[in-house]
Amino acid sequence: MHKSPDEYLLYCEDVTKAYGSKVVLEDIDLAVKHKEFCTVVGPSGCGKSTLLRLILGQERISSGTMLIDGAALHQPSPDRGIVYQKYSLFPHLTILENIMAGKQLSQPLWKKFSTRKTARDEAMVYLESVQLAEHAAKYPHQLSGGMQQRVAIAQALIMHPRVLLMDEPFGALDPGTRETMQLLILEIWEKYGMTIFFVTHDLEEAVFLGTRILVISQFYIHETKPPEESHGSRIVADYKLNDNAYSTRVKQTAAFGELIQTIRYEGFNPEVKQNAHDFNLTHSDSFVTYVGEK
Ligand SMILES: Nc1ncnc2c1ncn2[C@@H]1O[C@H](COP(=O)(O)OP(=O)(O)OP(=O)(O)O)[C@@H](O)[C@H]1O
Ligand SMILES: [Mg+2]
Repeated sequence: MHKSPDEYLLYCEDVTKAYGSKVVLEDIDLAVKHKEFCTVVGPSGCGKSTLLRLILGQERISSGTMLIDGAALHQPSPDRGIVYQKYSLFPHLTILENIMAGKQLSQPLWKKFSTRKTARDEAMVYLESVQLAEHAAKYPHQLSGGMQQRVAIAQALIMHPRVLLMDEPFGALDPGTRETMQLLILEIWEKYGMTIFFVTHDLEEAVFLGTRILVISQFYIHETKPPEESHGSRIVADYKLNDNAYSTRVKQTAAFGELIQTIRYEGFNPEVKQNAHDFNLTHSDSFVTYVGEK
């Protein structure tokens, strides 16, 4: 062990995930502190969604160590919620009922009736958090895409997750709505004190939202494997970002633009391959077990 796993919400050492003979993620070393807002970027197919599924406990790692709060994870738990790009709400339920539904499903039948009023009150609290209180009685088809995503966020929040996993949650929204949602998720993150893993294709969004950015890529030169042999993706860059960015003005600054250029260069260009020894793992929680040891 290179770090003390107990200090971290998520601790991965030498994690590999393969589907059959195809190695998707290879030797992932990652330690993330609680309440970090970790954004995850990388070329299409590099394994971002796979990483989220592993953290969710929906899929098992192929080898290595993966701990949440110091313990191995075996299955999904209400501790970890997920919001996808396109969430299908129950069309025949109102927004309020949609938010109550997840919570009710997770409870035994005898409890459902006795706690219905409480559940309704609680659902209203989360609807307010996502600024949808006045739409509680509407049906999903009456809401815009951005509003539907806010319902999905409230559905996750009502389970009181310690970890919120978001897989391109704003990917289908128009730019204006997207920016509003970015500010909303920062507010929610701060209010509820969660750890967030947020996958996005939009580098600007990733640098704006995160307190830490992980760049995952299949484009690098392996220490031992020859170029013709395929290898899995690794974390090729890991930066600490600002702890809070509550004004979108930061997006116009030179430093902001330069970091985006660097990340695009380091992780997204199949023509530019860094040597695994030279990855830009500058975050203080970053560590490497593989290089030079095997
Ligand atoms: N269940 C599966 N069985 C086999 N291969 C899979 C499975 N799930 C994912 N893969 C493969 O793993 C690789 C990584 O997929 P993943 O969906 O994690 O990538 P991603 O980074 O999320 O991509 P995108 O940016 O396009 O969403 C892909 O090559 C994909 O084909
Ligand atoms: Mg994906």
